[in-house]
Amino acid sequence: MGISLGIVGLGSFGKAFAALFRSHPLVDRIALCDLEPDRAKEVATRPGWDRKFRTQDYYRDYEDLLKSDVDAVAIFTQPWLHAPQAVHALETGKHVYSAVPVLWTPDGDEILEWCGRLTDASRQTGMLYMLGETTFYRAETMFCRRKAQERAFGEFVYAEGEYIHDLDDTGCSLRDVQKSRTTGQAGLRWLEMKETYRRNGILDGPMHYPTHSVSGPISVMRTRAETVTAHGYRNRNNDPYFADHAFSNETAFFRLRNGASLRVLEFREVAGSFHSSETFRIAGTRGMYAEGEWKDNQRTEPFSARTVEISRPTVEEMRDPLPPEVALAFHRIKHPDTTEPADFTSEGHGGSHPYLVHEFIDAVSNNRLPAIHAWEAAHYTAMGVTAHKSALRHGESLSIPDFGEPPAE
Ligand SMILES: NC(=O)c1ccc[n+]([C@@H]2O[C@H](COP(=O)([O-])OP(=O)(O)OC[C@H]3O[C@@H](n4cnc5c(N)ncnc54)[C@H](O)[C@@H]3O)[C@@H](O)[C@H]2O)c1
Repeated sequence: MGISLGIVGLGSFGKAFAALFRSHPLVDRIALCDLEPDRAKEVATRPGWDRKFRTQDYYRDYEDLLKSDVDAVAIFTQPWLHAPQAVHALETGKHVYSAVPVLWTPDGDEILEWCGRLTDASRQTGMLYMLGETTFYRAETMFCRRKAQERAFGEFVYAEGEYIHDLDDTGCSLRDVQKSRTTGQAGLRWLEMKETYRRNGILDGPMHYPTHSVSGPISVMRTRAETVTAHGYRNRNNDPYFADHAFSNETAFFRLRNGASLRVLEFREVAGSFHSSETFRIAGTRGMYAEGEWKDNQRTEPFSARTVEISRPTVEEMRDPLPPEVALAFHRIKHPDTTEPADFTSEGHGGSHPYLVHEFIDAVSNNRLPAIHAWEAAHYTAMGVTAHKSALRHGESLSIPDFGEPPAE
C-alpha cells in the first residue's frame, strides 16, 4: 500500500508542488488543507484529481487534517508558521515535509528555540522530518556531492555560497510576495503578531533565510560550521520594506569543522548577482567547482599535480537520475499520453522540485531518514541566525549552536 499525504497551504508554492506529490507512484491518496477554500478547490478540480483525492479529504482546519488518518503532511504555509506546525504534526504521529525555512520570524532566539523543539520532536517521536531546501537538489549540488564522495576535491580549502535576490527583482518582486503572504486569514493574523516584535525593538536580517546559500557547500563537504563573523549593510533610503530590518544585505564568514572556510552572501538590496542568484563555489586541494566548471589538477599525493583538466558537464550530466517510473509519472503531469521517461525535464528552482518530492516519499516508504533531516535543517538555520547576531554585534565572532546529529539508524 502507498502513502497518504495532506498538503497544507495551497498558495503559489503549495500549488506548484501538489501535482508532483499526487503523481508520485508511491502516493495513493492526497488530502488538501487551506484556510481559504478557493485555493484548495482550484487544485482539487484539476483534471484527473478525483483519482487520488476525495472531497471528504478537504480540510479547512489544520487540526482536522492532523486528526485524519493521513501518514504525512507537506507544509507550504507562510514561513512564520512552519516549525510550530511541523512539531505539532510530528507529535501527532505524522511524517513532515516542510518548505523552507524551518521557521522565519524577526527573532533569532525564537528561531533557535524552535530548531531545538524540532530536533527533540524528531528524536522523541521517531517520525521523519524533511526540509524542502531547493538548492540541495540543484544539478550542481548533486554533481559536487558525487565528486566529494569520490574524494575528487582532495581536502576542502574554501567555499562560497550566495542567495542574491533584490527586493524589486522583475522575475519575483519581494514586495509582491510580502503583500500576497499578508493577505487572507493567516496573513492578517501575522500583521497583528508583527507589532509585538516591533514594540520589543527586534530587528530582522536576510541571514534569517539562509538555507539557499549554506546548504550547497555544507551538504557537499558534509561538515558543520563552528564559528561565524558577519557584517551587514543597512538600507539608506528608508525603504518601507526594510522598516523592521537591521540590514538589507549581510555577509558572513564561517570557520568549518573540516578546516575550510566559507563566505556567505544574503543580499536583498543590490543591483544584480555576480553569476546567478543562488550559487556556490567550492575549492579543494585537487578539485574545484565554480560557475558550471569542474577543474581537476589530478593531485593524488604531494608533488603529483599535473595539468589542470577543465570540464563543463551539462545539467543532465550533473543530475542524479530519478527512478524511471518516477520520472515517467512526473512527465505525465504535462504529457498524459507519454510512455517515455527519458523525455522528462526536471523543473522548478533549478530542477529541484521533483527530487525533493521523490526524496521525501521514498524516505517515508522505506522508513529511512531523508537527506535534509531535522538536524541538517537546524544546522543550516543556526548558521544564518548566528551570522545575523554577529552582524548586530559589529562582527563579533560567535559559536554556532550545535543541535547534534540524528540518532544512529
Ligand atoms: N525556493 C524555495 O524553497 C521557496 C520558494 C517559494 C516559497 N517557499 C516557501 O513556501 C512557503 C509558501 O509560500 P507561498 O508563496 O505559497 O505562500 P502563500 O502565502 O501564497 O501560501 C500560504 C498558504 O497557506 C495557507 N495557510 C496558512 N496557515 C494555514 C493553516 N493553519 N491551515 C491551512 N492553511 C493555512 C494560507 O491560507 C495560504 O493559502 C513559504 O513559507 C516560503 O518560504 C520556498
